[in-house]
Formats: sequence, C-alpha cells, structure tokens
Amino acid sequence: MRLEDEKKAAALAAVKRVRDGMVLGIGSGSTVAIFVEALASLVREKEVEVICVPTSYQSAILLASHGIPLTSLTEHPTLDLTVDGADEIDPNLNLIKGMGGALTQEKIVAASSKEMVVIADSSKLVEVLGVKTPIPVEVIPMAWKTVAEKLAKLGSKVELRHGSGKVGPVVTDNGNFILDAKFPRVDQPKTLEEKINNIPGVVENGLFVEMAKIAYVGQGKTLERKQF
Ligand code: 5RP
Repeated sequence: MRLEDEKKAAALAAVKRVRDGMVLGIGSGSTVAIFVEALASLVREKEVEVICVPTSYQSAILLASHGIPLTSLTEHPTLDLTVDGADEIDPNLNLIKGMGGALTQEKIVAASSKEMVVIADSSKLVEVLGVKTPIPVEVIPMAWKTVAEKLAKLGSKVELRHGSGKVGPVVTDNGNFILDAKFPRVDQPKTLEEKINNIPGVVENGLFVEMAKIAYVGQGKTLERKQF
C-alpha cells in the first residue's frame, strides 16, 4: 500500500473517535492535514460541532480555511482529544516528533489533552527510537551553540536545522531555532527527554514519552499502549 493511502486510512480511523461537542487538539504535518479534511466534512454535514486548539500556524491556517472554529488553551486548558502525527513510533507508543518543527506547541497541547491519538503511515514504526530520525530540540537562538555542544556530550551528532525556502536557520512558530540531535538509538527515552530539557537554553525536545494512548498506523493497524 502506498504511504499516502496509509496516512489516509490512519486519519479516517482517528476521525471516528471525534464526538459532538469535543474540544480537540490538532497536531501538525501532512497526515494531520488529511485528518482535518475528514473532520471538515463531518462539521460541514453537521454531524459534529467541535472547536480546536492548533499546534502550529500550519494547523491554524488549515482549520480556518475549512471554517472550523479555533480556540486556545487559555479558554480551554483541558482538551478532550488530540490527534497528531509522528516521525517515529516505538512498540510502547513513545514517539519522536518535530521534523515539521512544531514540537513545542504539539507537546503542550498533547499534555493538556485527556487522550492523544497518533496517526501515521507504517514507515514511522521502529523497534527502538532514534534509529532513523534525529531528536529535534527547540532552543533559544542565543544558546544554540552551547546547547549543541552539550547535546554532543550526551552522545549525539548535532546539526542546526536550515530552512528550505528561506536562507539561514529555521525559525520556529515560537521564534526559536531547532537543533537535530542524532543519537545511534534511544534506549531510555524518559531519561534522555529529561536530560535534554535540563540543558539551559532548551525550550523543548521531540521525545514524547508515555503520552500517546492509541496509534493508527496505515491500513487497519491499531496499536494501543498497554499500561496506561
Ligand atoms: C511536526 C510533527 C509531525 O507530526 C511529524 O513530522 C509527522 O508529519 P507527517 O504526518 O507529515 O509525516 O511532529 O512537527
């Protein structure tokens, strides 16, 4: 099955979890864009009324273009359900996220949600986190070099993320830079998540540990976290 078809199958499975009156967190990325299309048709056909907290300018613009009402965590600090994509998913549903640069708002929104559901194609499944993808780390710009050195000391190869369509470093929706820290593998994601976030200058990192409850991965494949 093509990866695009797998993304669509995952997005359509997740949209079935949406109920009338829900306050939703909406992640970022190409799989979420398919989910938003499906959500928009439910809203248009008046099957559900929802309001959504976006996790990026991308998702805010997308939701608005479909006429889906937006809200914020100030108005709704607790969300019913967050649906988001992932860059890597391990068998315990721990994730690496942030290859689209939106990790900080994504983590805040997921952490404010009663339930986080992940949607992805099967290329995102890994046995151990870190084998394919670097860990994106959002940093305060003036600290990028010192944080990069400390991430290297933790055992990673670090690159400052550069833009395509813009010269110079990627600037996030929050006005920060992103370092991509490639570890050979991440055997203890919780410990590493905490170590990275302890470095002064780090805003957030892309390890999402024990946050996702369910992952819809490609055609018909559902993974559920065991001890939740
Ligand atoms: C953005 C993300 C995305 O969820 C992740 O990159 C997956 O994107 P896609 O659905 O396009 O594969 O974390 O920061």
